[in-house]
Amino acid sequence: MSKKILIVGGSSGLGRQLAVLYAGEGCEVGVMGRRENLLTDLRELYPDNIFIKKGDISDETISHSLAELIHDLNGVDIIILAASIIHFNNDLLPDPERNTIDINVKGYTRVLNYAWQYFREKGKGQIVGITSIAAARGNKEAPAYHASKAFQSVYLESLRVKAKFEKNGIVITELIPGYIDTEMGKGKRMFWVASLGKAARQAKKAITKKKSKAFITKRWWLVYHVQRLLPTFIYDWIVNGSWTLKSKH
Ligand SMILES: NC(=O)c1ccc[n+]([C@@H]2O[C@H](COP(=O)([O-])OP(=O)(O)OC[C@H]3O[C@@H](n4cnc5c(N)ncnc54)[C@H](OP(=O)(O)O)[C@@H]3O)[C@@H](O)[C@H]2O)c1
Repeated sequence: MSKKILIVGGSSGLGRQLAVLYAGEGCEVGVMGRRENLLTDLRELYPDNIFIKKGDISDETISHSLAELIHDLNGVDIIILAASIIHFNNDLLPDPERNTIDINVKGYTRVLNYAWQYFREKGKGQIVGITSIAAARGNKEAPAYHASKAFQSVYLESLRVKAKFEKNGIVITELIPGYIDTEMGKGKRMFWVASLGKAARQAKKAITKKKSKAFITKRWWLVYHVQRLLPTFIYDWIVNGSWTLKSKH
């Protein structure tokens, strides 16, 4: 049976590619993001299956827009939260840090809370949060991004435990990408960069299997866990070293 899916942060990148995959197999997909022109272009690919709504998760009233989009879809089975931003902020200016926290922490939590209440009332549903291997350790170039990803990851784990305890029918899935070839995937030390197609296929498979956690692509499991185990002096040496690997551009 085809599912109904809401993707928050689906105007570009992994969220958009998931929307294309789901709509291509006949699912009805609601897509939210701030850039309306990209949403309109996306809807043109599958005008009968894709529903769009402009929305900014840092807006305190986002729950109204989420409710309207879900109403347009006549209910949803899965809510995927892909929305996040990154600021490389070497000078540690306050505005980029605050902006990251507003979206990746406050906005992200707002959407998760909404999804939780929606599915709890419905008695079943799946919440999918996209985090990052950045959740594993701190980083000198994008401190707020790394910290926000750790927040997202632990928050999702808390919801997973809570759902099991309450036996409320909510499935929580955390997708943990390494590097993906998207607007956000930039840097001088990138390796194992997954194509958008491959990343989205693996992400969709993990969602279908209702996995608790899935690394995208799978081998990032190793990098994540090695990073977690590294003693501080080795980790600091690696992140502060002058080595470079591969740049996309
Ligand atoms: N690419 C990578 O290498 C990589 C690695 C690890 C984790 N990730 C994670 O994967 C997820 C998807 O990222 P991506 O690589 O596909 O990058 P992307 O193309 O920049 O996608 C981010 C999406 O989030 C939306 N978004 C951002 N701020 C928003 C806001 N305030 N309200 C609503 N939507 C918002 C963007 O749409 P608008 O700008 O139109 O609002 C866009 O659709 C993110 O959570 C990211 O942290 C990516």
